Amino acid sequence: MPIKELYEPVKEHLEKFDTFFKDKLNSNVSLISLIIKYLTKKKGKQVRPAIVFLSAAACGEINERTYTGATMMEMLHSATLIHDDVVDEADKRRGMASINAAWSNKIAILVGDFLLAKGMLSAIDKSEFDFLRATSSAVRRMSEGELLQIHSSKKYSIEQDVYFKIISNKTASLIAACCEIGAISTTNNQELQLGFREFGENLGIAFQIKDDILDYQGESEVLGKPIGNDIKEKKFTLPLIYALSTTDKQEKKKIIAIIKNKDIKQKDIKYISDFVVQAGGIEYSEKIAKEYSLKAIKYIQSVPDSVYKQSLMNFANFVIERNN
Ligand code: IPE
Ligand code: IPE
Ligand code: MG
Ligand code: MG
Repeated sequence: MPIKELYEPVKEHLEKFDTFFKDKLNSNVSLISLIIKYLTKKKGKQVRPAIVFLSAAACGEINERTYTGATMMEMLHSATLIHDDVVDEADKRRGMASINAAWSNKIAILVGDFLLAKGMLSAIDKSEFDFLRATSSAVRRMSEGELLQIHSSKKYSIEQDVYFKIISNKTASLIAACCEIGAISTTNNQELQLGFREFGENLGIAFQIKDDILDYQGESEVLGKPIGNDIKEKKFTLPLIYALSTTDKQEKKKIIAIIKNKDIKQKDIKYISDFVVQAGGIEYSEKIAKEYSLKAIKYIQSVPDSVYKQSLMNFANFVIERNN
């Protein structure tokens, strides 16, 4: 199902959100304004605000609090992408030069910090302390996930449980907070809020597994970001972890020697990609992503039926079927 259809039930809110979001990002510093203008030219898939709105509407009526929540989460998401491209030395994002490539690492780090602070402030301005509580741990987990990822890539091998810890921290934590905050904005029912949080956590894991598959199998043009970057950055993601677990010692040694190499060439990426595909690494990862997607749905099954709930269920399928 195309993303447009998933967003249909909250379409008007998302359109209003767009202006709301841009307005909130103003700054007196002209360099920041310039970069924000550049950044908001391409808006990405808007997965996070969309699930804030859908979760909110599935639990009650969308209101001003929902807008604050969606704004906060998209700001935090943008901040982490800007920082992530510095960490990953990625030169493209959303089809344009990344901030680090267009300006510099220094500027990207500071603009990321600016967005992070703005995100937290948007909740403080409205005294939304529940939002802050739900999000602060996500921000901590994102940093922990990224650091654990760097630390593990230095060891040139990784266990599946470490991989899951990395992705649940770096990606699922924020998506879980989006769903929880959406629910908080429209209901006081804590059980419901927690159900949405769990939905988001599992959805987020499925989302990142698919992201890691797309790094092997996606099209850079469609994704708007480089592919093959995980191998280049010596990141052991699920397709590779699984593929290595099926192979003999000699082949494993060979693959790791290539990854250890300082300067990984295009032909090396091709060699490893082919190995991963042949060893069934993609198929296996798709199967696991599907399991998390189904697990996610279970957490919102008892929510009263509505077009919003239906969209969230379809979302769980979208995250694993998407090509961008
Ligand atoms: C990219 O997120 C970062 C990950 C968690 C994999 P998205 O794919 O949602 O990025 P945009 O917002 O659409 O660019
Ligand atoms: C996503 O990580 C960024 C965060 C969750 C902080 P990746 O590095 O795997 O994602 P892309 O592929 O650059 O979007
Ligand atoms: Mg990264
Ligand atoms: Mg990256």
